[in-house]
Amino acid sequence: MHSTGSNLAEVPPKPAVGLPLWLLAELTYRCPLQCPYCSNPLDFAAQGKELTTEEWFSVLRQGREMGAAQLGFSGGEPLVRQDLAELIGEARRLGYYTNLITSGIGLTEQKIRAFKDAGLDHIQISFQASDAQVNDMLAGSKKAFDQKLEMARMVKAHGYPMVLNFVTHRHNIDNIDRIIELCVALEADFVELATCQFYGWAQLNRVGLLPTREQLERAERITNEYRARLAAEGNPVKLIFVTPDYYEERPKACMKGWGSMFLTVTPDGTALPCHGARQLPVAFPNVRDHSLHHIWYDSFGFNRFRGYEWMPEPCRSCDEKEKDFGGCRCQAFMLTGDASNTDPVCGKSPRHDVILKAREEARTATAGIGQLTFRNARNSHLITKKG
Ligand code: FES
Repeated sequence: MHSTGSNLAEVPPKPAVGLPLWLLAELTYRCPLQCPYCSNPLDFAAQGKELTTEEWFSVLRQGREMGAAQLGFSGGEPLVRQDLAELIGEARRLGYYTNLITSGIGLTEQKIRAFKDAGLDHIQISFQASDAQVNDMLAGSKKAFDQKLEMARMVKAHGYPMVLNFVTHRHNIDNIDRIIELCVALEADFVELATCQFYGWAQLNRVGLLPTREQLERAERITNEYRARLAAEGNPVKLIFVTPDYYEERPKACMKGWGSMFLTVTPDGTALPCHGARQLPVAFPNVRDHSLHHIWYDSFGFNRFRGYEWMPEPCRSCDEKEKDFGGCRCQAFMLTGDASNTDPVCGKSPRHDVILKAREEARTATAGIGQLTFRNARNSHLITKKG
């Protein structure tokens, strides 16, 4: 709430700051796959050294003291960190609800058992497609699909709920029925059918990945039909369908507002209010230099887009600003060159034309999967995040 007291009239209103309830630990940028929609940088050498186990322990401890309750271990591929079970154990001791977000590549029954013993609550495995050929092509690995299937079954066999994430795009979304059938056959409990979001490599490949409106509408209709049918059959699987905001007229409330509840710590300790913020021309603090308390409450980066004072028109006077917070800062930066602009997804944005153009490009695009730019060493010069 902004004060209206007359003696405070000259003091700029300070936004109320919530707790960092959701902590995302991006343990590493290393990954054996080369997905063309990955949001992470490839030039590992340009990033700082990865945090040590002790440094992560300190981050986890500080986060918990500040009220963080949910902890995600992600990457890159978090399984490449040899200390993952140790980190899980520490997180459990501190009282976090822990979630491992993985491609399943590098997972073994032995590791699943070790993570369970360490107290891991939840494992989410991501798939690229419903059949081996497309999946492995997108992942850039010949054995990825079989390994994922085996690990998904194993995760369930060890008493975890089976949580699957399928990234959909114009090359696999027409097979949504096969994807759902596969999930049913695997006895999945939760399935996220998420159209890829356009950050990092996905933005580079946007023309080759963005589905058409017709593709999306068909996929959503089929998902709704399956949802109704499976529920009638008593199947408890939850199907969650996530559309790209490129087909919306109002922007998403990205991160539920900048610096409101979400805190990411990247492999080299840079702290970010969202996974995409590293590309912004904003100075972000590092956990090696500052306490998490300072970072969350006092750092420039975390305060840069908090509240409403930073907003330009049309957001500033919009009666929906408390609902969508002006949309996504990273998307505004990528699409307009200025992170403080209204997210162009919004129909009221003066730059909404870039979204209309992207839709039209998707409608007329003809490129095949083979023309996507994959996240691999050959293409590393095409995309970086500032270190
Ligand atoms: Fe950074 Fe949306 S991803 S604000």
